[in-house]
Amino acid sequence: DQPAVNGGAGSGVPRAPVKFNLFDPAFHADPYEVYARLREEDPVHRTVMGAWVITRYADVKTLLRDNTFGVFDIPTRIERKSQFLEKKNMGELRTLAQAMRRWLMLCDPPDHTRLRSLVNRSFTPGAVESLRPRVQEMVDRLLARVRHTGRMDIVNDLACPLAVTMIASMLGVPEEAHASVTRWADGLSRVLDPLRSLEQYAEMNNVAQEFLAYFRELFAERRRHPREDLISSLIAVTDQGDKLTEDEMLSVCMLLFIAGEKTTVNLIGNGTLALLKNRGEMERLRQDPSLIRGAIDEMLRYDSPVQLNTRVPKKDVTLHGKTIPAGDLIYFSLGSANRDPTQFPDPDRFDITRREKGHLAFSGGIHYCLGAALALIEGQVAFSTLVREFPDLELVPGEIDWQKEIIFRGPQTLPVTFSP
Ligand code: HEM
Repeated sequence: DQPAVNGGAGSGVPRAPVKFNLFDPAFHADPYEVYARLREEDPVHRTVMGAWVITRYADVKTLLRDNTFGVFDIPTRIERKSQFLEKKNMGELRTLAQAMRRWLMLCDPPDHTRLRSLVNRSFTPGAVESLRPRVQEMVDRLLARVRHTGRMDIVNDLACPLAVTMIASMLGVPEEAHASVTRWADGLSRVLDPLRSLEQYAEMNNVAQEFLAYFRELFAERRRHPREDLISSLIAVTDQGDKLTEDEMLSVCMLLFIAGEKTTVNLIGNGTLALLKNRGEMERLRQDPSLIRGAIDEMLRYDSPVQLNTRVPKKDVTLHGKTIPAGDLIYFSLGSANRDPTQFPDPDRFDITRREKGHLAFSGGIHYCLGAALALIEGQVAFSTLVREFPDLELVPGEIDWQKEIIFRGPQTLPVTFSP
């Protein structure tokens, strides 16, 4: 497990040690070569910025379930920045920091256990499955808008509006507010990224204020007139006398947009790319629509929408001969784990009938994705419809414009053409 300085294939020339640089455009375009080298040469890698990257499937899977590793405390960092701004009379970031304090993926037990069990009561499989016809209706509506033009942008014409509208519908946000909610969700979507500037946080704080003001009113309305929606069921939720406070409920609403938008968008963007670059697989899916479930799992494995989970060890941890000090930032690379050949033979091949299961695209352990069932339904409906109704879909030639993201991976836009 020592980092090896391997010779380039038969050249006898030592290769430079592998580097993990989240800001390198070549890494954004294709991180998988770097991950392959890290898994082999340096599976517990220290980056130049001082964080750690864990890349092997077995390590990531085991450590995600290990409670030695807590969450990376972004809210406290934002609060510190807020104190700095307040001292200089330059505003504050407290609204954002306080709302984020109660986001599940930023909470450790016991807070996490309590909040998750309360939210889970509203997020039942039945409630999610009942959304399937609404997802189909939305996909049909979005595709009808562009069908006559012979071209669309998969990300902005289909994936984004679908992801945001489904969360908004589930919560019970009236349709006339969907445009504002989409704008707020976009404005907040990068908040989980550990490397944001003060200006970006200040903007996000403003967006959070608008978001919360709107949802506060909506909660008051649903208290007076409950409906069959997630907001009404969050209000009704109680657990042996315990219940969600108003601030916690508002936080949950924000969290669902943050957790459910970019992720689903990237499943649809990355999945479309995988199909269009592997037309044989797309054709197999068209011939046999029953393959859709396996196809979505393979899309999630092959090019994972969330590439990195951030964690912090509560005590020093030694792994493969390296000691990670307590408090250091660690990235568990889900994207790399999902391409590990020890778990997924021939991992760079996109194969919609792959037998090996167990991808980690939805993470694992206590933070396993709460919205996985909804994301799978959206993926299944969107791709079944695309493959059936747009058999001659083609990528518009040119470089893919990848999002400049750290945690997420997906195209910023994905223009395609088809016969109108
Ligand atoms: C957590 C992936 C869609 C809600 C997570 C985590 C991952 C993930 C990797 C773990 C984060 C961590 O451990 O730090 C995905 C992917 C999706 C998707 C790949 C789409 C393909 C959704 C949707 C929703 C959602 C649609 C809700 C509407 C959540 C929530 C958490 C979470 C609430 C936090 C759970 C916890 O910490 O207990 N998701 N997600 N996700 N996801 Fe998803």
